[in-house]
Amino acid sequence: MRLIHCWTLVSLLTVIPQSTLASVLAIDYGTDWIKASLMKPGVPFDVLLNRDSKRKIQSVVGWKRDDRLFGGDAAAVAGRFPSDVFSGLKYLQAAPYDSETVARYSKFSPSKLVETSRTTCGLVQSDGTEWSVEELVAMQLSYVKQLAEEVAEEKVRDVVLTVPPFYSQYERDAIVDAIEIAGLRTLALVSDGTSVAVNYAMTRTFTTPEYHIIYDAGASSIVATLVSFTPIDAKSASAGTHIAVAGVGYDRNTGGIELDKRVREILIDTFNAKHKKDVREDKKAMAKLWKEAGRVKAILSANTDAISAVESLAWDIDFKSKVTRAQFETACSDLKAKFAQPIYDALNAAGLTLDNITSVLLVGGTTRTPMLQKAVKAAVGAEKIALNVNADESPVLGAAFYGASLSRQFKTKNIKVSDISLHDVEVAYFAAPTTAASRPRSITTLIFPSGSKVGTKKTLTFKRKEDFTLFFDYKHLIAPGYPQRIFESEITGVSEALGNLTERGAVDPVVKATLLLSDSGFVSVSEAVAYGEIKDDSLTGSFISLFTPLAIIDLDEGKLKGFFGAGSSSSEEATSSSENAAPRETENASSSSESATSSSSSAAPSSATADKDKKKKAVSKEDTIKLKVVTTFPTIPPMTVEEKKKARSRLRAIDQEEAAKTRKDEARNNLESYLYRLRDLLDDENQDTPFKKCSKESERQVIAEKLEGSFTWLHDRGDIAETSQLLDKRISLEALEKPIIHRYQEIEAFPQALNNSQMWNWSTRLFLTEARQNLTAELEADLPSKWTKDELDGLEKTLKEHESWLHTWVEKQKTVKPNEDPVIETTEMKARAKVLETSLMKLYRRKVPKARKPKVTSSAEPEPEQTAQAEADTEKDQTVPETPEQDGAQEPLKAPGHDEL
Ligand SMILES: *[C@@H]1O[C@H](CO)[C@@H](O)[C@H](O)[C@H]1NC(C)=O
Ligand SMILES: *[C@@H]1O[C@H](CO)[C@@H](O)[C@H](O)[C@H]1NC(C)=O
Ligand SMILES: *[C@@H]1O[C@H](CO)[C@@H](O)[C@H](O)[C@H]1NC(C)=O
Ligand SMILES: *[C@@H]1O[C@H](CO)[C@@H](O)[C@H](O)[C@H]1NC(C)=O
Ligand SMILES: *[C@@H]1O[C@H](CO)[C@@H](O)[C@H](O)[C@H]1NC(C)=O
Ligand SMILES: *[C@@H]1O[C@H](CO)[C@@H](O)[C@H](O)[C@H]1NC(C)=O
Repeated sequence: MRLIHCWTLVSLLTVIPQSTLASVLAIDYGTDWIKASLMKPGVPFDVLLNRDSKRKIQSVVGWKRDDRLFGGDAAAVAGRFPSDVFSGLKYLQAAPYDSETVARYSKFSPSKLVETSRTTCGLVQSDGTEWSVEELVAMQLSYVKQLAEEVAEEKVRDVVLTVPPFYSQYERDAIVDAIEIAGLRTLALVSDGTSVAVNYAMTRTFTTPEYHIIYDAGASSIVATLVSFTPIDAKSASAGTHIAVAGVGYDRNTGGIELDKRVREILIDTFNAKHKKDVREDKKAMAKLWKEAGRVKAILSANTDAISAVESLAWDIDFKSKVTRAQFETACSDLKAKFAQPIYDALNAAGLTLDNITSVLLVGGTTRTPMLQKAVKAAVGAEKIALNVNADESPVLGAAFYGASLSRQFKTKNIKVSDISLHDVEVAYFAAPTTAASRPRSITTLIFPSGSKVGTKKTLTFKRKEDFTLFFDYKHLIAPGYPQRIFESEITGVSEALGNLTERGAVDPVVKATLLLSDSGFVSVSEAVAYGEIKDDSLTGSFISLFTPLAIIDLDEGKLKGFFGAGSSSSEEATSSSENAAPRETENASSSSESATSSSSSAAPSSATADKDKKKKAVSKEDTIKLKVVTTFPTIPPMTVEEKKKARSRLRAIDQEEAAKTRKDEARNNLESYLYRLRDLLDDENQDTPFKKCSKESERQVIAEKLEGSFTWLHDRGDIAETSQLLDKRISLEALEKPIIHRYQEIEAFPQALNNSQMWNWSTRLFLTEARQNLTAELEADLPSKWTKDELDGLEKTLKEHESWLHTWVEKQKTVKPNEDPVIETTEMKARAKVLETSLMKLYRRKVPKARKPKVTSSAEPEPEQTAQAEADTEKDQTVPETPEQDGAQEPLKAPGHDEL
């Protein structure tokens, strides 16, 4: 069974309406750098920029006193606050407190570590605050989420993270827990190398199968992923590429950090020799040297020597020294053999030789180191080295495509991916005792051998009468100091269920457990059932025929997820399982009449499917009873729901605190600049400013007093004041300034308002004069008229009211001084003019009535059968009353007819 995903290029994101599309975030969370990419329709597909428009973010979170900082900002203060700045956290994910990994971390990191209740590491700030690795990683993921949401302009939930292929279940749990704490949802974890392969295939077409090695040298590890690219349906419209991971080689401990450490050792030795002091005693100095080592290493990638200089490194000594590339390479001589080893391991795992490899793609920041490039070139031949993928960004871009395909909302180029897991996973259980006195025998089966395809299920069948437990272990240590037990699943309710089946006529019912190796590399018991064939011919016949097709459905494209816990193995997979997973008894046991058999033929009924999917025939449902599976984690447990909730609310509390602080800072700054602006207004020498003209001496007095009070208050209490107090101060001062501003605004607006009023006054008057003349003429000629005399009288009345109101109040307003409140408001003037305008336009737009007497025709009359369009034209030709010139804002008689709606 394999994981199969279909996708199409992003440019085709048109199929589904925008509203149903959610964005997908891809994050490459590295030891040193975080890169992210957002897939959202309408947003150009690229890596996400941080607030400084940088394409990558340093994997650092820290505190400068009370301010939490991320990325470069945090790294910049690491020298001053070594205990409060946390970096390289990927190193610590799920690492047992007393493992070598942690010891190695402590060699380069000044962070104070403590053991958590889950046997992993916690990090302690200088004020004693303790954080789990998951929480600190979650802060960074949440920071990236925020950046993505700013770009997406919506909430972002779904995320795909890249992980090293060698990540154990513990480490995968740790990253998934961090994702959840950050308020995100894991769409998938995808291997770094696989992501690069996806990115590589996006823009290429393969005509024949090709093998490539993706050589990824990062900060903490080196991984070589051997992948095959095989064309699918080359001639059809759905032509695409099948990417299959064939083998992986890795070194968990060699990477950029190891190189930095070697450089720092050189710097330390130089300092100590020169100044006869041990700089290791100084935490801050060591943090500074760590940063300096990274810088020197980068310079040595392009130059044969570098000058290292750190001002006031320790004991007020300015450190300065030259480091040569030769010196650096000598210090790393023991590593040279390790650089190429993963390539050989990958070839071995895949059963291929270098001759089979088309190219070796270099990715990861550490591949910039000449020494490492040289080693890889020597191993594979310079002609095979390809630098045609983006060393920094191809993992995250590939992961974004991968995520887009999983979300099933994007149509993308047809690329199918099958990845593998790298660690042998065994399942062990105790055989049922044959007699009460017999010693328990344990039976161990290699259930998912290294190289197993992810997205695989296997079904184990047990002849058991009682509850029993399955123990899942890594066959080999994944790294020194790590446990081997992954989890234990107890299958309960067995005897009742079997009894029930027997009662109903089943002969020799059994227990079937479905074990899943998920797309993201997690092993779990996805389901356990009691199963028995009930000897009833009418049922059995149809029952058997049901299964084969069901099993095939499950194989199809990623439906696995939807059918989680449903379905059995395919015939292909089942065969392989019987080869690889032949039960092996441990020393404790000698005979094996009692062993479990992994499902080894496709005829093995997929009872689980039927049980899950109630729509499927009732026949099979009666044959299975679902059993309870209780899973416990005796070694490195993932975080419980409660722990995650607690962590989440801790982080949320910080977010809220920071938001409140931002609001307060804003309120304070606003108040301060307002106070200064007001002081400038009061202090202005020029007495002709609007503020001075429109205010009374007494008013300025009050403002000045209050202003001084506010300055004093801000100075004395600004730091401890509440946001609301800061806002209130400003509001109460604004209330004093408001009437002055109002006066000024009215003075400014008055001439225009008056113009407008007079214009309507004028237009109406013109109209009335002409209309009355026409009416008289029409009456005389016995022609139809648009208006009656009453209507015109009515309009005249409205006009007179407007004129007299205007006249009265304009006269009064003339006596008002600038620093007194106006007696008429421009808003009222406009409202009154509007009344007049409405009355006028009602009559003005009136259409010419049809002639009352058909015999009467006059050339002066518009044709009765005019269309609306023609009327509109005629209206333009009508004598529009002469209107005084207007400035653009008011257009009383603009295109009559267009105002109506
Ligand atoms: C790998 O190369 C060897 C020798 O060149 C060749 O015989 C073999 O068929 C190749 N294998 C594959 C899978 O291409
Ligand atoms: C056992 O069978 C009875 C009826 O046949 C049913 O009601 C009951 O739920 C079954 N018990 C279990 C555990 O399935
Ligand atoms: C096998 O027996 C040994 C000692 O007799 C015991 O320590 C070990 O745990 C047993 N293994 C299993 C899987 O039970
Ligand atoms: C209104 O218009 C008439 C006619 O143009 C004019 O005589 C009168 O003075 C105007 N009244 C005001 C208040 O502008
Ligand atoms: C008055 O009559 C003339 C001639 O028919 C016409 O052009 C003009 O539009 C009419 N005026 C009004 C206000 O209707
Ligand atoms: C008022 O109208 C007159 C005549 O069209 C014009 O000259 C003047 O600029 C206008 N004033 C304002 C304030 O719009």
